[in-house]
Amino acid sequence: MIQFDSIFYSTKEQSILEDFNLTIKGKEFVVVNGASGVGKSTLLQLLVGAIKPDSGNIYVDGVDIHELTPEQLQVYRRSLGMIWQDFRLFPEKTVFENVAMTLEILGHEPLQIYHDVPDILDRLGLGKKLDHKASRLSGGEKQRVAIARALVHKPSLIIADEPTGNLDPNSTSDILKILTEINAVPSTIIMVTHEQNLKQLPGHHRIINIQH
Ligand SMILES: Nc1ncnc2c1ncn2[C@@H]1O[C@H](COP(=O)(O)OP(=O)(O)O)[C@@H](O)[C@H]1O
Ligand SMILES: [Mg+2]
Repeated sequence: MIQFDSIFYSTKEQSILEDFNLTIKGKEFVVVNGASGVGKSTLLQLLVGAIKPDSGNIYVDGVDIHELTPEQLQVYRRSLGMIWQDFRLFPEKTVFENVAMTLEILGHEPLQIYHDVPDILDRLGLGKKLDHKASRLSGGEKQRVAIARALVHKPSLIIADEPTGNLDPNSTSDILKILTEINAVPSTIIMVTHEQNLKQLPGHHRIINIQH
């Protein structure tokens, strides 16, 4: 369960979140929608413990993440799957290497890595591109690699910040379809997007609107 409990957050210049509340109980696909600058990315930064709220608490499975020690916070962050607008791949590394990295950081055995990485890439339609350099892929392919990297360790919580922000309409619907299918597996997904036309979102999801 994820709970934002009366979150207030402001910078020196402005108040960004005022009494934000959100509870996610089961495995859900939650879409946080709102105009540019309303604080969607800030919300995710708070959830991963990168910044602290001025007041209020964020609980993940009953743990207040701002009470974690730096070591516990690192373990928590590595347990998540994160997907970004700008993909954040290593361009000079191969598709395989980009995805394997998640498992290497977690200390998985090479045998496991050589099994799990092709397996997830296969499922994302990239089984034939394991040896391609990330820089040579199209935008939609890059995002699928990034999704594979976020999923390969089977996280129970996936966080996506404008994952379709840099993609053309075809790749966008492709990626949204993949994300809703992931949600059929036991994961919670929180995706933030300023996209106004969410009608193309397939599958079951809950939309939370935030405003200034
Ligand atoms: N590090 C920062 N310092 C000052 N202002 C910031 C910082 N990060 C974000 N902001 C401001 O906070 C507001 C919310 O930002 P953000 O969460 O990135 O919005 P969104 O993701 O919804 O577009 C914006 O007005 C932005 O300019
Ligand atoms: Mg943002």
